[in-house]
Amino acid sequence: MKIAINTGGGDAPGLNAAIRSATLSAISRGWEVVGIKNGYGSIYTDQPFIPLTAERVRGITMQGGTILGTANRGNPFEMPYQKSDGGWDLEDRSDEAVDVFRRYGVEALVAIGGDGSMRIANRLSKKGVNVVGVPKTIDNDIWGCDVSLGFDTAVTTATEAIDKITTTAESHHRIMVVEVMGRYAGWIALHSGLSASADVILIPEIEFSLDSISKKIMEKEARGETYSIIVVAEGATEREGSRFVKGKVIGQAEQLGGVGEYLEKELSEMTGKEARSLVLGHLQRGGTPSTYDRLISLRYGAAAVRALEDQDFNKMIVMQQNRIKRIPLSDVADKMKLVPLDSDTILTAKEIGINLGE
Ligand code: F6P
Repeated sequence: MKIAINTGGGDAPGLNAAIRSATLSAISRGWEVVGIKNGYGSIYTDQPFIPLTAERVRGITMQGGTILGTANRGNPFEMPYQKSDGGWDLEDRSDEAVDVFRRYGVEALVAIGGDGSMRIANRLSKKGVNVVGVPKTIDNDIWGCDVSLGFDTAVTTATEAIDKITTTAESHHRIMVVEVMGRYAGWIALHSGLSASADVILIPEIEFSLDSISKKIMEKEARGETYSIIVVAEGATEREGSRFVKGKVIGQAEQLGGVGEYLEKELSEMTGKEARSLVLGHLQRGGTPSTYDRLISLRYGAAAVRALEDQDFNKMIVMQQNRIKRIPLSDVADKMKLVPLDSDTILTAKEIGINLGE
């Protein structure tokens, strides 16, 4: 058996552990393993694959990022290209990718990625590529999977940052707004905000009202609590408002950002208090993976190879109630795991007095 591994979408702590585990599990079965560089990028070059050997993956479990490189704009079905007039457009180059797999004798693909990568994997599977997906995203929004690799480390990074900001907020009697990642789902904001004792947590699943937030701040003020911590997901929106978009590049999802700055300005005017905002941004995707992320990444990588061995193709490896399972890729594509508003985490936040912007 000859298999290829790729990593797609934003990087996340744990990717290298998954690459190592899938590589070693395959080698131990006598298989040959190659890597695709930069998402699907290298497929379209004269060196489509690099060999992945035991030596190549030694010592990478604890390294952040991905030794294969990744890309947020390299969908084989929508590849950006420059037109003769200098403008940009998208073209479908998926047949070329399938042909390269065939020519190089690659019989199966382990696709490590988020929702976008699983959509691509599902479409490739329909073209005859044998795929097994491994769920990765710090946003933790992949449908059907309790936890994706990268989430635990990102939440820990965000929690520690909010803890540090709190001392300044308290010393200066300020409102501090921390903008965290979370494009469609508020998992990072909710888990880090709750763990770091934020006063207000704003997630994409609940539209926020500025009146509600400023009321919370002023109630605290009346009790002599002269600072407030607000944690907001980048994808959060105001009631009847739209998402805060910073930019858009062809072939890539909109770049979000700006909601923290907006809250800083508006809340400062509404409350008369000094407010500051901070965007944690890519800090949350970097660094050494936590023990938990290393472990699930290793387990996901090995489970993907087990699925290939069973010829159980076109599945995604998932964690459900602490058990590794396989679910059809077609079930995952085009769905999203949002924070359930009746979850006990949401109830806990409300019951201990956290304002969710409602
Ligand atoms: O999907 C993970 C994520 O970190 C999102 O939260 C964020 O919107 C996006 O990636 C940012 O991607 P990029 O690094 O391409 O701007």
